[in-house]
Amino acid sequence: MGATRQAIDAWTMAEEPLATQYLLANISPVGAAKGAVVASPSTNSPNYFYHWVRDASMVSSAVVDLYQNAPNAVAKKTYGDILNDLIDFSRGLQALPPQGNIGGLGEPKYLVTGQLFTGSWGRPQNDGPALRAMAFTRLANLLLDEGQGDLVTQKLYRAEMPATTLIKEDLEYVAHHWSDTCFDLWEENHGHHFFTQMVQRKALLTGAALANRLNDSGAANFYSQQAAALETALERYWSPTDNFVYVTLDEDGGISYKTSHLDSAVVLGALWGDNADGVFTPDDPRILATAARLEQTFSSLYSVNSTSSGAPGILIGRYPEDRYDGYGTSSLGNGWPLITAAYAELYERAATRFEVAGVIPITSVSAPFFSRLGWSGRLGATGKADIVAGTREFSHLIVAMRSKADDFLARIEYDGQSSQGHYSEEVNRSTGKQQGAIDLTWNYAAFLSAFKARVN
Ligand code: NOJ
Ligand code: NOJ
Repeated sequence: MGATRQAIDAWTMAEEPLATQYLLANISPVGAAKGAVVASPSTNSPNYFYHWVRDASMVSSAVVDLYQNAPNAVAKKTYGDILNDLIDFSRGLQALPPQGNIGGLGEPKYLVTGQLFTGSWGRPQNDGPALRAMAFTRLANLLLDEGQGDLVTQKLYRAEMPATTLIKEDLEYVAHHWSDTCFDLWEENHGHHFFTQMVQRKALLTGAALANRLNDSGAANFYSQQAAALETALERYWSPTDNFVYVTLDEDGGISYKTSHLDSAVVLGALWGDNADGVFTPDDPRILATAARLEQTFSSLYSVNSTSSGAPGILIGRYPEDRYDGYGTSSLGNGWPLITAAYAELYERAATRFEVAGVIPITSVSAPFFSRLGWSGRLGATGKADIVAGTREFSHLIVAMRSKADDFLARIEYDGQSSQGHYSEEVNRSTGKQQGAIDLTWNYAAFLSAFKARVN
């Protein structure tokens, strides 16, 4: 049934240069300022021709990867120049004076000219500055390794208050505002969000390490303390009775029909907030349990996921009650390629963690996830079963996880067969046709990230 590893190898190798090309085409496109990243080239129905801080930061992270892995000096210079544009544009956004309650670091989307978007919107969204700090902190570390410390202190991080550099200003905002409620990444619910707090924690931890590297130890201590407080805050999202991680807590505004508390944003939070320290990491039993529940939900919710559809794998969407169809919110939500890619990445990253650890510790929490992979063992008296490397059971589960990852990618391949590797935001839950914003930039960043997890 499953797609062969070789078939997916071939597809990812063919899609990777296309995804890179389509992603780069949405940075500084005609009609936008240098360094603006449009969420999609679509200018009407829907109009996604704006710079969203969240989308742009994920795209920036992909460009940092391209820079890091550039095959030659010419390519490295090209990517370095793009990163420079991204930095200058983003710094310009940070420096814009707010207009009433519009603007400030939590502002989610801007005009492509680099000015404030003043229409009504779900603001603030505090994941943006965290994701941006994370992307550029990775770049700052690379530049320091290359002996380009001057560029870092000039534009990215300088131990100076008030902050005037990109990363420092974002970190100060995150460190002082993580406990505020805000809108979520889907721009619909106001409260505290698992995704937002995961990326805030990761930004503060990587930011603290950078601050230390740049002799800003007072700031480093402060960021670390806030990250520790976030770790405690994050524990609250786990619901032992539901056996999944809640998406939002302390809701104080926004849509009211999202009653299941189940949302793929939790999986995205585990990926983007992954600090390889067991705190809701991709191999954390609580994350695996949440992923399994969502998968089960979407496989019966979307008719394109029925086995009779003939399509491989399953297509995953945002959350079961979703009413956004890519154009408006009075319909039914659909599958999202970027989320389906994130599922592939989750399975790959968790499998790699288990291989490195040499053991798969199955608990009553993660048992439903492993049962879906064909595990039929029993938990011991301790409530745990340790499947150790070298056993047939261990290799069977690792192979099952990686082939599951391939099934998600096979689905994405299948859905893009008639579009030459171009992808819109959504794939219709009944017809299997692409819809919503064309060439969603975030799609390509998500694919590249999933491809990277497969080969690492
Ligand atoms: C509602 C959607 O659910 C949300 O995710 C989107 O960003 C806005 N509308 C704008 O299109
Ligand atoms: C809608 C998504 O819900 C949101 O996360 C995204 O930032 C915008 N579209 C732009 O792509």
